[in-house]
Amino acid sequence: MDEAIQEQWLIFGGSRGLGLSLLKLCAKEPSGRFLPLSISRKRGELEANQKHFSWDLAQGPLFDEKFSEIKNHLGSSPIRILYAAGGGPYGAFSKKAFKDHQWAFELNFLSPARLLHWALNDDRLRQFIYVGSQVAEDKPDPMASSYAASKHGMFGLIKSIQGESPHLDLRLFSPSYMDTDLLPKNAKVRESAQIFAPDKVGEKLFQWMLDPSGNKHYIWKP
Ligand SMILES: NC(=O)c1ccc[n+]([C@@H]2O[C@H](COP(=O)([O-])OP(=O)(O)OC[C@H]3O[C@@H](n4cnc5c(N)ncnc54)[C@H](OP(=O)(O)O)[C@@H]3O)[C@@H](O)[C@H]2O)c1
Repeated sequence: MDEAIQEQWLIFGGSRGLGLSLLKLCAKEPSGRFLPLSISRKRGELEANQKHFSWDLAQGPLFDEKFSEIKNHLGSSPIRILYAAGGGPYGAFSKKAFKDHQWAFELNFLSPARLLHWALNDDRLRQFIYVGSQVAEDKPDPMASSYAASKHGMFGLIKSIQGESPHLDLRLFSPSYMDTDLLPKNAKVRESAQIFAPDKVGEKLFQWMLDPSGNKHYIWKP
């Protein structure tokens, strides 16, 4: 295998759901050219040979320290970053403790915004993809207000930076409902909306991210 063509990827939220589907697809690539590192709190459903770095992305003040640890831990600079970590409290805004909303703001907005700021100042990084939400990034999402607010924030940030013609390939991927742990078991949409398997959505995401002419904003349509 030609080591020169190997690519280091960082997959935030790779321990399950959509992020995990990307790790599985990287592992299937016959050339072995993709070297993904999964980042999340736990290893979750990763195989023993899949690389993992433990980081609670809701701990905002630790950002610089943790990110330096990752860079020291890697053999080479990352080429692509996929931010698929996400979550938030489910229920009426006033009924949830504010610390739960703060957790959602850190995880879905402040950490990816900090990471993107770093990425825009690194000449070696070629691509940054944030997983938004077709459901929550540009319309209300009752019972998931802090999650929706932070997805709106990243939507505005990415669209604005795209208008600044950044050196890297900055993209937004907006899926619809997926059958993962993120969607509460009692969420009403499970009865009414179409819910997709994360592996199916992941296949499209993988194809699109490797297509150099792919749109800067992909809205998932099955
Ligand atoms: N599922 C849906 O219906 C849906 C719809 C639209 C958009 N999305 C978006 O799609 C993306 C993937 O979601 P998913 O459905 O695959 O969710 P998921 O199965 O719940 O996976 C979420 C991932 O984020 C990680 N994560 C959660 N909290 C974290 C924290 N504090 N620090 C570090 N990592 C954390 C989890 O790992 P640990 O728990 O081990 O940390 C896990 O790897 C998210 O951006 C989500 O907002 C999902």
